[in-house]
Amino acid sequence: MEYKDTSDIEISLLLDAVYKKYGYDFRQYSEAHIRRRIMNRLTLSGLGSISQMQDFVLHDKSFASLLIQDLSITVTEMFRDPDFYKALREKVIPVLKTYPFIKIWHAGCSTGEEAYSMAIILREEGLYERTTIYATDFNQQALNKAKEGIFPAGLMKEYTLNYQLSGGKESFAGYYTSSYDMAIINQALKKNIVWANHNLVTDSVFAEVHLVLCRNVLIYFERSLQNKVQKLFYDSLTNGGVLCLGSKESLRFSDLQGEYAVLDQKRRIFKKKYE
Ligand SMILES: C[S@@+](CC[C@H](N)C(=O)[O-])C[C@H]1O[C@@H](n2cnc3c(N)ncnc32)[C@H](O)[C@@H]1O
Repeated sequence: MEYKDTSDIEISLLLDAVYKKYGYDFRQYSEAHIRRRIMNRLTLSGLGSISQMQDFVLHDKSFASLLIQDLSITVTEMFRDPDFYKALREKVIPVLKTYPFIKIWHAGCSTGEEAYSMAIILREEGLYERTTIYATDFNQQALNKAKEGIFPAGLMKEYTLNYQLSGGKESFAGYYTSSYDMAIINQALKKNIVWANHNLVTDSVFAEVHLVLCRNVLIYFERSLQNKVQKLFYDSLTNGGVLCLGSKESLRFSDLQGEYAVLDQKRRIFKKKYE
């Protein structure tokens, strides 16, 4: 981060404090994102300056926890970007079908909607039973929600539409049971999903997998951090493995761009070349 004025210095010191005290490293997240979130928390807290926030972060665990939640944006949905899931069915599933066992890593899975969408597709394609889905995030609150698999029933209309647009042909309502104003994801979709706490910035390779999905996470990282995390994905993928990024993310500035073939440029789907 470049220091332009006092608040830049304060933000940098605040992020140092968060890292040194709690181990969460936001120092190479995109400046605009970090600044927006910190200023928002500053307003909500009624504190006078970012330096005062630093004091709270160091001495008040619950305040620190609030700020860490603020800095990790967990917005997600089932079958987000239906076009992407359509391409996944058409271009990635045939690759997965060639493997006797399949391992998939959802990095930055938030509250789980993405992993459950994958579970539905795998089930419909007859692949679920031979697949392990690793779904990871560094936000434990989000992971706890993901594990529960209980979502507001009000969202199901939108998710049903997403599912249909993504090429889903079954009844989406068959994948959950309604209870009052909640929708509970079927146990059968959960059984091969392993939820785990993993930090893309500070932890190492998670597992060797055939497919990595990391969508709408790298967009919050500065370029050098994106590069570092891309290396993690590259090292995790088997030869011929597939990498899926979010619609606003790309390999364009990655040192590893040449190591992937493009399966679908628009939907950000790439295949690791054989080493
Ligand atoms: C906007 S959500 C994206 C969720 C989902 N992949 C999607 O596209 O709908 C970003 C997620 O990345 C997670 N995240 C951010 N930084 C991370 C890190 N360093 N390690 C692991 N997860 C991280 C956040 O906690 C959040 O759940």
